[in-house]
Amino acid sequence: MAGGRIWTMLSIVGAGLALAVFGAVGPAGGAPTQSTQTSYRHEGVASCGGSTCHGRQEATGSVVRQNELLTWQDPSSPAGAHSRAYALLAEPRSQAIAAKLGIGPATQAPMCLGCHADPVPAKLRGARFDIGDGVGCESCHGGSQVWLSSHYAVGATHESNVAMGLVALDDPRTRAARCLDCHFGSAGAGQFVTHRIMAAGHPRVSFELDLFTALQRHHDEDADYRKRKQVSRGVKTWAIGQAMALDRAAALYASPRGQDGAFPEFYFFDCRTCHRTFSDDPDFRPADVANPGRPALSGFPTFNDENIIMLAAAARIAAPQLGAQLTAQSRAFHASFAGDRAGAVRAAGQLGSTARALAAAFENASFSRGQTIAILEAVLAQGQLYTDYQGAQQAVMAADTLISDLQASGTIGTASARALRGDLDRAYAAVRTPEGFRPAEFRQSTARLAAGVRGLR
Ligand code: HEC
Ligand code: HEC
Ligand code: HEC
Ligand code: HEC
Repeated sequence: MAGGRIWTMLSIVGAGLALAVFGAVGPAGGAPTQSTQTSYRHEGVASCGGSTCHGRQEATGSVVRQNELLTWQDPSSPAGAHSRAYALLAEPRSQAIAAKLGIGPATQAPMCLGCHADPVPAKLRGARFDIGDGVGCESCHGGSQVWLSSHYAVGATHESNVAMGLVALDDPRTRAARCLDCHFGSAGAGQFVTHRIMAAGHPRVSFELDLFTALQRHHDEDADYRKRKQVSRGVKTWAIGQAMALDRAAALYASPRGQDGAFPEFYFFDCRTCHRTFSDDPDFRPADVANPGRPALSGFPTFNDENIIMLAAAARIAAPQLGAQLTAQSRAFHASFAGDRAGAVRAAGQLGSTARALAAAFENASFSRGQTIAILEAVLAQGQLYTDYQGAQQAVMAADTLISDLQASGTIGTASARALRGDLDRAYAAVRTPEGFRPAEFRQSTARLAAGVRGLR
């Protein structure tokens, strides 16, 4: 994660054990590369944060907490990151990025505002809209133009609110699509961190749907919530998040975002396949690059396969036929880089459509405890696939999410969770920084974690 910050979720999973309610399938968003923003006016955080609305000082026991504003504004934790997103653009680090790119002040640069502020176009900003609010409520929940005055009224339902433009963030595919707009990228204006922006100093963007949802959670999944909405968390949300992320990556790669320029956009590739040392010594081989998940393509950069690896592990257990298809297509996609650009774009399209099929299959699957453990074991057992820092980091986030899920469901007691947590912390330490990543050491830490997980059976 950015600047070496790695947050863990185990500490967040506390008493409030959520029973997953599986069912209702919501809309899966538009075309996969498009920003998910709609055409309703955004009335601004000030319209949500009134002291009798979502701006209370303490959580109420009523339908929603009503202190969501306070959580969103939290000055120090990741829960408040979105309220800080715009202010961050005025800080020296952003100024340095903007200066290197020659784009004027970052606070006014469209290249930054698509993600560090509410991406709504100027003509759809209401009177109380303030760009300084950063990623405000409506950046995720949708423009409140039509539902603002009625969404809490007697007779209003989640469905009627959604019909008026409230985004159904309780649906994991809808949620994933919205987060990915900024936490991976979209074809929308200013919503993409090119390799050029990273080379100017922007951190790599990493994301895991369930972990990141937990980190900014400002709602309770109590009995009342379960009546109104579907609870999306744990293994299922994680798996759908992986499928949606791969779909987005494949679609954007095949779009002008990926194909404009003399080279394909480097953002999509395993950073380490380019950023490593080399030597003229004929016996020199960079350490730990042999990877059975990728056909040997000596001399080519490799597509960043963090989501492919996770998704394949989930699919093998929960949707084996699609899993086999995914593995075959993934190998074909990696191999396609030795051919022409059109072939690689075609292979990306096939991978994306399998990812969408998997998201749909997961939405209807029920993921037993045994399957969750099996997926966790699969993620940890495939150490030889984690030659890439990004894949390794994704594996640690997956372990965190899946262990938290098993803890929330009562499958793991507090003592075992504490024991696993020690190993998990060591695994997090192994992926703290890209430059400190050593695949062999990382494999040792996941092997220890895997041994602990085997003990759960
Ligand atoms: C596609 C969306 C997107 C775009 C475009 C984007 N950013 Fe970011 N930026 C993010 C996300 C997401 C993070 C947090 C990364 C994480 O923690 O995983 C971030 C993090 C940062 C950070 C580091 C924050 C920290 O506390 O470590 C800086 C600085 C930053 N962005 C500046 C910029 C500037 C300047 C621009 C324009 C040149 C820009 N960003 C464009 C999404 C974006
Ligand atoms: C980064 C995206 C994001 C931002 C920004 C955001 N939310 Fe949320 N919010 C969510 C998600 C995800 C959920 C959980 C899914 C759901 O219930 O819709 C949620 C849930 C809620 C709920 C609980 C709804 C219920 O039915 O119990 C309320 C109320 C809420 N948010 C209000 C706000 C307010 C007010 C703000 C701004 C101060 C805000 N949110 C900012 C993503 C966001
Ligand atoms: C409009 C763009 C946008 C959307 C949509 C968005 N985010 Fe973010 N998010 C950001 C930016 C930019 C940052 C980094 C801000 C900072 O560091 O202060 C960030 C930071 C975060 C962080 C803190 C990460 C860290 O390393 O501290 C979490 C957690 C997070 N987002 C979760 C989510 C989730 C979950 C969703 C979807 C429900 C979501 N975000 C949707 C732009 C967005
Ligand atoms: C296809 C090869 C390739 C890939 C893949 C690649 N880079 Fe680069 N990167 C380069 C080149 C070439 C430069 C320019 C070096 C220079 O200016 O001297 C560069 C420069 C950079 C720089 C500026 C610092 C420096 O060393 O010059 C950063 C930071 C960076 N890349 C980060 C990343 C990250 C993060 C990723 C993975 C998401 C990535 N790169 C993937 C080739 C690549």
